[in-house]
Amino acid sequence: MKTKLISIVLIFNLFLVQFAKADEGMWIPMLLGKYTIADMQKKGFKLTAEDIYSVNKASLKDAVMIFGGGCTAELISDQGLIITNHHCGYGAIQKHSSLEHDYLTNGFYAKTINDELINQNLSVTFLVRMEDVTEKILSVITPNMNETERDIAVNKVIAGLIPPASEEGKYKVTVKPFFNGNQYFMFVQKQYTDVRLVLAPPSAIGKFGGDTDNWMWPRHTGDFSVFRIYADENNEPAKYSESNKPYKPIKSFEVSIKGVKEGDFTMVFGYPGRTQEYITSYAVKMVSEVENPVQIDLRQSRIDIMSKYMNESPLIRIQYSAKYARVSNAWKKWIGENRGLKRLNAIEKKEALEAEFQAWAENKKNKKKHDYTTILSEYKGLYKELTPVNLAMDYIYEAGLAVEIIRYARGFARFVDTEDEDDLLLLKKVYKNSIEGFFKDYNADIDKEIFALVMEPYSKNSPEQYRPDFFNILENEYEGNIANWTDAIFSNTIFNKKDSLLSFVENYSLENKSDILNDPIYAIMESILNSYTEKIDLKSGYLHTKKDSLDRIWMQALMDFEPKKNFYPDANSTLRVSYGKVSSSYPRNGIKYLYQTTLDGIMEKDNPDVYDYRVPEKLKELYKAKDYGKWGADGRMPVAFIATNHTTGGNSGSPVLNAYGQLIGVNFDRSWESTMSDIMFDPEQCRNISLDIRFALFIMEKYFGADRLINEINFAKE
Ligand code: ARG
Ligand code: ASP
Repeated sequence: MKTKLISIVLIFNLFLVQFAKADEGMWIPMLLGKYTIADMQKKGFKLTAEDIYSVNKASLKDAVMIFGGGCTAELISDQGLIITNHHCGYGAIQKHSSLEHDYLTNGFYAKTINDELINQNLSVTFLVRMEDVTEKILSVITPNMNETERDIAVNKVIAGLIPPASEEGKYKVTVKPFFNGNQYFMFVQKQYTDVRLVLAPPSAIGKFGGDTDNWMWPRHTGDFSVFRIYADENNEPAKYSESNKPYKPIKSFEVSIKGVKEGDFTMVFGYPGRTQEYITSYAVKMVSEVENPVQIDLRQSRIDIMSKYMNESPLIRIQYSAKYARVSNAWKKWIGENRGLKRLNAIEKKEALEAEFQAWAENKKNKKKHDYTTILSEYKGLYKELTPVNLAMDYIYEAGLAVEIIRYARGFARFVDTEDEDDLLLLKKVYKNSIEGFFKDYNADIDKEIFALVMEPYSKNSPEQYRPDFFNILENEYEGNIANWTDAIFSNTIFNKKDSLLSFVENYSLENKSDILNDPIYAIMESILNSYTEKIDLKSGYLHTKKDSLDRIWMQALMDFEPKKNFYPDANSTLRVSYGKVSSSYPRNGIKYLYQTTLDGIMEKDNPDVYDYRVPEKLKELYKAKDYGKWGADGRMPVAFIATNHTTGGNSGSPVLNAYGQLIGVNFDRSWESTMSDIMFDPEQCRNISLDIRFALFIMEKYFGADRLINEINFAKE
């Protein structure tokens, strides 16, 4: 009777687990055939694993690429046209913007192919093929190797694998660990470096809702921009040249304008950056109870100060909007993450799993196979030591280096370090430009207020054993009075005054080193760095090595513990498939998130007094005239939709595909209730946010008259 009961409970639990985890996962494209495709097809996908990833024929993977450093983009025409997010193209758009050509404010459209704008340092990277190299790598590992020996051995194999695969520099080759180093894959990539700007909506469309709506649903951001890849006469990667031609893709996406409805199959195919789904309760506690609250508070101070000044002055708004976006993006994510972890009882859930695991590990039969009985207590000890170390690092980044001139002063170490007159001449030249650039977007009042606000908690709450020494001055000379100390520092330093800094650099000679060394901001910067090198570095290195080793064993242990479970590896900036469905959700009691937003919502938010909600006149006219062309549906113009795909940072710009592998949207965000998905995914709440491709097409055609682009796009026959 008892065994029967247990087995019923077990089956029920298994069912629950499988059901609950329905749309969780970021799957390796090469392995879809083995593990995932059957489930995808069951959920409506009409293509095969080979259609997604193949080395023998053109497949969808040939139409997806890494865009720049950390985003994804996809091909939408046979002439190298690609689409990504506005926030991914932002840097490129900004670099082309000036007062005369303010493309950030007004948008940009290259009327002819000759008007497409060249970008320095922008590349797209295709995956040519991937290969499981686990055996090659792990074959050199012996059980008695310590972590450092293991690393050396692994790196040696990797170093041997790369040259033959790169075919004399034709390909970029990387090898990455999966499942915390239990598996390794090699990636052979092709990188194109002539990528030109073709179209960008005005920020009032591409960034509509700004940071107010960031991480939120309902969302109305037209978050897209359009670029084109260029290649040499052989269609191969080449530096910019006038003779380069639009790249001829192996494969580009068909674009479907049929739109989405509740329950439709969706697949996101892109480059998720980092998740940590398998961490223990100790790690979740460290992140959610110690690190996130401190980081959130420190950033809150910066955000409050910046927004106060930005609201008062249009100039400061221009100077600080990109900085503000950077600071507030992670701040808001952490807030959502903490709420989500709490709502999910993430720590309790992890603890329950760990208790079950411990019981399993102590079972004699299992213990004979692998002894996992001590790993959890080792983790416990590790996190006790690691938590203050990580906290000390958080204070360095979020308090010390949050002060712009402390960060900027770091570069002046080059003046201190040089003994060479020629070198000095060069430095002076570089720094003349650098100082102009730095002060263009700098406001000393903001920086001073931030300094005073973040130094207070840094001086009091950062772990004492790792705290930098400069706080002694605050105690000894200013009796802990932060305001007086701040006043003195900001009047005495040269780093917050453009003219004095320029003339200092101009007149600088090798005898002036002490002027830099004695500058109060420079001294603080050095003291912070010293706190790292002298107090933190060694300990942190030691603990992280230990952590790497425990993480690898723990991952294997979890797989042994649940041998039937289909594990997916944490995101590591490699190409992955997430699949799910278009789906409304119920974020809080009494609230339903509908799956689609439309232009009507943009008009509802329209408010000329609120910077983030100013709707361009032309868009209002199109709305009034209901001039949606063939992109609208039922008299409305769709803007964005939500689905249950498991995504994270780096998935921005990823193609969102329907059951036929056709492009229906461009992924750009998650709802606020979703951001804990980097640690624990919840199918009930987690929703990725995608731009409906029809809105991008509407803006291209009706806002810009970009018929030449519409005509080259590959539309699906429907
Ligand atoms: N939250 C999105 C992501 O993490 C969009 C960020 C850019 N937008 C912004 N308003 N900061 O990248
Ligand atoms: N906005 C993120 C990105 O830029 C996507 C996300 O975190 O959901 O990649």
